[in-house]
Amino acid sequence: MIGVQPVKDAFVAEITGVDVRHLSDEEFEQLYAAWLQYGVLRLRNQSIDENELQAFSARFGPLEELPFGRMSEADKAKVKNRYVTQLSNILVDGKPIGGLGNAEANWHSDMTYVENPPPASVLLGVEIPPAGGDTYFADQYAAYEALPDELRVRIADLTIKHDAAHTSIGKLRPGFDAFDDPRDAPGAIHSIVQTHEETRRKALYLGRREWAFIPGLSIEESEKLLDELWDYAALPAIVWQQKWQPYDLIIWDNRRVLHRRDDFDPQSRRLMKRCQVLARPVHT
Ligand code: SIN
Repeated sequence: MIGVQPVKDAFVAEITGVDVRHLSDEEFEQLYAAWLQYGVLRLRNQSIDENELQAFSARFGPLEELPFGRMSEADKAKVKNRYVTQLSNILVDGKPIGGLGNAEANWHSDMTYVENPPPASVLLGVEIPPAGGDTYFADQYAAYEALPDELRVRIADLTIKHDAAHTSIGKLRPGFDAFDDPRDAPGAIHSIVQTHEETRRKALYLGRREWAFIPGLSIEESEKLLDELWDYAALPAIVWQQKWQPYDLIIWDNRRVLHRRDDFDPQSRRLMKRCQVLARPVHT
């Protein structure tokens, strides 16, 4: 039996008594149920390598290859492991070994700019800076529930176009051209209110604020409504802050939570490894 300690009401749980390399099927089912219930799980002291991270993550469902975007074939060929993304500011031979550097990453859900965004993200902290680089999670069931009735009615049938061209630190991805009007952003369109396919609960589904657009509205109306919705997306009462220790493993439900992270001193080292689940998990 695994230990499940709620951290913040019905959002975030600490899982204890677990080594993810040796989980029985029954224990994995318990972990999976806790993940659906709490949206974010933290497991401390999971000193695993890339292959073990990949094997554990694949128990949630088939894994997503890295978000190559429009990266050239030559750059794709240089990628070491197509299923494990490194996020890091560390340079080797003057070149970054991972994405995002030491920059602040704004609130977002992973890859909502594709038609079928990953339902689960699994993030392992390997090297942690002495200060900064904390990651924050915001519960979008609670955000939806916090909306005034009038706002809920207004957005019931609306969608958002999610920008594929920029990263969560605002950089243009390789192969995309710059633009200055959100209506020109390339990317998938999703309903603003999503019913979670497994729990059937409703969540606010905003993706990220920058370059978002609500089709059918004027640009001014869209910007105004997006700002109104974002006022509810990360209310302090629905946000949890993860202060990393080496080999913390965090698993979040990307259909239910937004996340962001603080910047940190570029002179210190931070290395994270992440797997993303490709599609609807097989455990329903
Ligand atoms: C991210 O997925 O936005 C980065 C999370 C982190 O580096 O803590």
